[in-house]
Amino acid sequence: MDSLVVGERQILGQLRDAYDQCKAWGLTGDGIRLVIQHTVVAAKAVYAQTRIGDKPVSVASLAIQQLLKSGLPTDARIIMIGAGQTNMLVAKFLHKHHFHHVTVFNRSLDKAQAIADMLGGRALPFNALSSYTEGFDCMIVCTGAAEPIITESLYASWLQGETDPTMVIDLAIPTM
Ligand SMILES: NC(=O)c1ccc[n+]([C@@H]2O[C@H](COP(=O)([O-])OP(=O)(O)OC[C@H]3O[C@@H](n4cnc5c(N)ncnc54)[C@H](OP(=O)(O)O)[C@@H]3O)[C@@H](O)[C@H]2O)c1
Repeated sequence: MDSLVVGERQILGQLRDAYDQCKAWGLTGDGIRLVIQHTVVAAKAVYAQTRIGDKPVSVASLAIQQLLKSGLPTDARIIMIGAGQTNMLVAKFLHKHHFHHVTVFNRSLDKAQAIADMLGGRALPFNALSSYTEGFDCMIVCTGAAEPIITESLYASWLQGETDPTMVIDLAIPTM
């Protein structure tokens, strides 16, 4: 009910995953099972009986709308940090809108490579972040890290003295 993006389908999937995980850990009983069951039935009824799903929205699609509104050119230098489900979705939108100058950083390089291949961009390991010196026009960050990744000093080192405005899109807040 408190979702930033009302009707975001991903939330129902996250609820189910969280329930399955808690069940596997032996943390749930009949009360929670019934609440989840009824919640899923109610959510499906809302999707089926209203127009909430007519124009699917997600945090990723809203972020891209803002990015497009900003007038960022399609050859802008974009760095993407994290290559999980959310940034994969963002990458699909970037591809649709012909952004192609994208560098993807991730701990698991294969996932970064999958996104880079789709966009014709480049994949780099997560630990290459600290030595990155090529600048950027837009940073899109979304990881499950519990600690801040982009520190003030790291950010300053990336700017390399550039004073042109840069866009930062942080999709990991609030974290689960
Ligand atoms: N604003 C919102 O409403 C919203 C929407 C969607 C997601 N989120 C939040 O964004 C976060 C990521 O979501 P997701 O759907 O992309 O999750 P995901 O599919 O599980 O992917 C997690 C990503 O974070 C990376 N990662 C995890 N721990 C890390 C660490 N300690 N250091 C560096 N990288 C780390 C993973 O790298 P590896 O591939 O190497 O494991 C992967 O790229 C979650 O916390 C989620 O709650 C918020």
